[in-house]
Amino acid sequence: MENDASGATLLNLGCGYKTTDAEGVVNIDFGVFLRIATTPILRNAAPFIVGRGRVEKLRQLSANIMVYDLSRGIPAADNSIEAVYHSHMLEHLDRDVAVNFMQEVARVLRPGGIHRIAVPDLEYSVRRYIEHLDSDDRSELHDPYIGALLEQSVRREAAGTSTQSRWRRVLENLILGDARKRGETHQWMYDSKSLSELLSRTGFTNVRRYRFGESGIPNWTDYGLEFDESGGEYKPHSLYLEAMA
Ligand SMILES: C[S@@+](CC[C@H](N)C(=O)[O-])C[C@H]1O[C@@H](n2cnc3c(N)ncnc32)[C@H](O)[C@@H]1O
Repeated sequence: MENDASGATLLNLGCGYKTTDAEGVVNIDFGVFLRIATTPILRNAAPFIVGRGRVEKLRQLSANIMVYDLSRGIPAADNSIEAVYHSHMLEHLDRDVAVNFMQEVARVLRPGGIHRIAVPDLEYSVRRYIEHLDSDDRSELHDPYIGALLEQSVRREAAGTSTQSRWRRVLENLILGDARKRGETHQWMYDSKSLSELLSRTGFTNVRRYRFGESGIPNWTDYGLEFDESGGEYKPHSLYLEAMA
């Protein structure tokens, strides 16, 4: 796909494997597995390069994928996009890059266009941690509550790599790099207050919190991006905010 998403109805940025074929949507990510999926020669060789589970995931990807590093900006003209959505992507950007990224979203959206963000909710994880710290319940280990806050910031190996066979694991880490290089680690986290402030600071208005599946984007649920296979919340306990350009 050519590197110009101008005119899209919806951009699904940092899409990962969560893509949609809906008309007018462009799914964008720089992940190595999407690179494999969109390069015919690599796609055919995929069973030899990646594990079986990943091959299946690659097969299920939509066709309208653009491979692009969004820290370089958004590949679309000014005021040319109806709506921008990104889920669990913002926290993977360095803080200064995140500010530029938000400004880029403001630039490409048409006036009145909607910016929808889903991120892991820092407040939710902190409250769960404190609740468990204060409780007398010893039926669950406490460490996972700390892990929920920190694991994705400090992890070295990319997701799924540790379950590969030994040689594939060594090769993957060598060729593809660690979790940080692949954009998998969290560089920051957000709660509704800090994310609202960031949106206002980068030129957005009408900041509003939503529940999953509810949106000001017309026919939002038809895109299916926030649902799992059984119609539940794809990323439970996420924080959803929308704002207008
Ligand atoms: C946690 S995944 C979320 C994927 C999907 N949006 C979801 O909700 O399941 C974060 C995604 O952001 C992508 N990403 C991180 N930094 C990026 C960048 N600079 N450019 C493009 N994609 C990026 C990663 O490759 C990864 O697929």
